[in-house]
Amino acid sequence: MTMLQNTPAQLTGFPMVDEDPEQHRFRVHRDAMTSPEVFRAEIERIFHRCWLYVGHESEVAKPGDYVRRPLGNRPVFMVRGVKTGQVHVFHNTCTHRGAVVCRQKSGNAKVFQCFYHAWTFDSEGKLSGMPGREAYGDKLDFGALGLKSVARVASYRGFVFACFDPDVEPLVDYLAGAREYLDLIVDSADGEMEIVSGTNEYCIDANWKLLAENSYDGYHALPTHDTYFKYLVALGTDLSGGVAGTVRDLGNGHAVLEYAAPWGRPIAKWEPLFGEGARDEIATLRAALVQRHGEARASRMTDTNRNMVIFPNLVVNDIMAVTVRTFMPSAPDKMDVTAWQLAPAGELPQLRQRRLDSFLTFLGPAGFATPDDVEALESCQQGFNSGGVQWNDISRGMAREPQGDDEAQMRAFWRRWQQRMGEAGYQEAGR
Ligand code: FES
Ligand SMILES: [Fe+2]
Repeated sequence: MTMLQNTPAQLTGFPMVDEDPEQHRFRVHRDAMTSPEVFRAEIERIFHRCWLYVGHESEVAKPGDYVRRPLGNRPVFMVRGVKTGQVHVFHNTCTHRGAVVCRQKSGNAKVFQCFYHAWTFDSEGKLSGMPGREAYGDKLDFGALGLKSVARVASYRGFVFACFDPDVEPLVDYLAGAREYLDLIVDSADGEMEIVSGTNEYCIDANWKLLAENSYDGYHALPTHDTYFKYLVALGTDLSGGVAGTVRDLGNGHAVLEYAAPWGRPIAKWEPLFGEGARDEIATLRAALVQRHGEARASRMTDTNRNMVIFPNLVVNDIMAVTVRTFMPSAPDKMDVTAWQLAPAGELPQLRQRRLDSFLTFLGPAGFATPDDVEALESCQQGFNSGGVQWNDISRGMAREPQGDDEAQMRAFWRRWQQRMGEAGYQEAGR
């Protein structure tokens, strides 16, 4: 049987994002989701040149703590130096003959010994020993054989980012308007947040950009997550306000959807799911936030949700819990997703429990949302293979001031994507 495939894209002169504000037209060519050439170019032009989220400082709280991570499809690891206390992100490759140096997912170590020939590096990356050193004589520059740091490493309010491009703009500039939203989360926890140990890891058979779109897609919430909303209503949650809200282009491809929370928020918004016993506790938390931040900011912290995508692949969703999620493409139609739960450090155990329950109920791999979303994304990818239709339509809301269930946030993402991929873009063969 011959499969009908879309024509593979090639590097020529045609943009994959087609925008015409006059005609309220915004389309993305489906080759952007299926072409191996686009995928390879994305790794080079986006993942190797943008700031990428590595992890949270709380994951390496103590000197010698480390976590191993894939970053733009390259193995790296983040470690807090024992001598300096500084957070490093190293290329995870031995300077001898290449083996991966940090092989455990996480842990605490004073030194990292390569298993191949046992060269040893300290937590600051310095080469500290090797078997049979005398065989090298006295000319070899041992100082130059330390682990190589990723070109740029910086952190913002506990979120650690790295970039392989030494000439990238400073992280604070790159984050642009997204900073305000990270601030809102961190300030609501009095500045002290931590990643709760344990991660969700799963693969999706779909292009990575579909998850960026999905993460702040207000339009899909009611039809796709119908079961969850029915469940909330059955518990007594008032959903009459819907999930309408506003979207903001935060610059540099980042965008956010902000809307009144139809569900409870462990930071300080009670809902029936939390139980009657939690009402007073939550009221006390809310009063404390009002005292510290004033009514308007405290209300934003407690009563509204934010789904944010920081270009290209960091999602920070401050909804019924705070989830931090990254996704890396491993092929045009495959991605690896990792999600963490971010919570105020030192939170009371009963509040933490409530937060974890909320997180898993909706966002966990077997929760109400994630399986539905995975199914939707995989379904889109399968639909692309059917051929016959060349373009995705992303124009919703262009004819009005965009609302929370429009697609302006996705347009911000795609404009930046097109810019990063080069104005030259790509063109279908034989077009
Ligand atoms: S490759 Fe690491 S010690 Fe040889
Ligand atoms: Fe969803």
